[in-house]
Amino acid sequence: MVQKIRVGIIGTGGIAHEHIKAYQQMEQVELVAFCDINSEQLAKMAALYGIQETYATKEELLLQADIDAVSVCTWNAAHAECAIAALDAGKHVLCEKPMATTLADAIKMQEAAERNHRLLMIGFVRRFGNDAELIKEFIEDDFFGELYYGKATYLRRNGNPGGWFGDKSRSGGGPLIDLGVHVIDLMHYLMGQPKAVSVYGATFQKLLNRPTIKDSVEYQSVSKGEQDICDVEDLATGMIRFDNGAVISIEASFSLNLKEDEGKIQLFGTEAGAKLDPELELYTNINGYMADVELKKPVALQMDGLFYKEIAHYIDCIANEKDCLAPAADGVQIMAILEAIYQSAATGHEVIIEELASK
Ligand SMILES: NC(=O)c1ccc[n+]([C@@H]2O[C@H](COP(=O)([O-])OP(=O)(O)OC[C@H]3O[C@@H](n4cnc5c(N)ncnc54)[C@H](O)[C@@H]3O)[C@@H](O)[C@H]2O)c1
Repeated sequence: MVQKIRVGIIGTGGIAHEHIKAYQQMEQVELVAFCDINSEQLAKMAALYGIQETYATKEELLLQADIDAVSVCTWNAAHAECAIAALDAGKHVLCEKPMATTLADAIKMQEAAERNHRLLMIGFVRRFGNDAELIKEFIEDDFFGELYYGKATYLRRNGNPGGWFGDKSRSGGGPLIDLGVHVIDLMHYLMGQPKAVSVYGATFQKLLNRPTIKDSVEYQSVSKGEQDICDVEDLATGMIRFDNGAVISIEASFSLNLKEDEGKIQLFGTEAGAKLDPELELYTNINGYMADVELKKPVALQMDGLFYKEIAHYIDCIANEKDCLAPAADGVQIMAILEAIYQSAATGHEVIIEELASK
């Protein structure tokens, strides 16, 4: 019989549900232990999913020699300490996005994976989307020609999730690091992962979490409390330049006076362009005429099963030594871009990525 991979979850809040449900569906996996510093949440989740082994600290969970792999689903500022401790304890790690809150921490995480010869995968879940897979196919068939510009918006009108998401000491930042990270990563991935050279960014802290807005806030953190502070940006914008001349521009908000929430990724190439979200559209020229290509079967991102695909890939990489589709090195690159946007916003100047990395 094939040996099962025994898995633990560190941080059993909102996103942990997706990890737990995925693991519990996999024959090859035995989900054995949970850890959370919030004892009430830990007990609630353990009862919900029938988990017997629960730990109040990551150290206790990591002492269990029969745990092979973990998912790190804590708030962002704890990713590095949990992932490094797990890797040093010989476990494989799937770490939720963003990889860390600083570039220095992300590099330390990558080093920990390398010195322990363990997998560190980053939860760049959008890479596993059906829309991304289809676009990738078109890119590989050279449908777009040279992809030289990507533009993404991830804008919420009143969508600060509260809790740690607004607390910079636990989140590392606001909508840029929480939402922007998804679309920066996806565009960068689809555009062939060129090396980022420089970044120009701006952030705004004008509306904060808008407690005066009486409509209910849709996005909730389980860590939400009465005393929540909000010291992160509410809008971020950035322009990233790559060594092949390509550029990505990005806007992300928690609070903004716009009509409707907007999430749109657009890619522009010499032969064709595309828009993902909410439905995939393709634009090109056919025989000298401008043509919008309509797929017979419309393609929209399917959330159902998305995390399962990501987590199944993690297990496949561990069990079958497959090449990881979202390795630590990619997380480090994206972390450098995020940090550069924040630094540029703070100084008002362009940030050269190489100078940032050498600090
Ligand atoms: N991939 C996605 O689309 C997606 C969606 C939501 C959240 N996330 C990411 O998942 C992570 C968690 O987000 P969430 O919404 O589940 O937050 P959450 O507040 O619901 O849960 C976080 C949990 O981590 C626990 N925790 C914090 N520090 C810990 C530590 N050192 N040891 C053990 N437990 C600890 C908290 O007590 C809390 O229960 C974040 O990094 C977030 O960016 C990813």
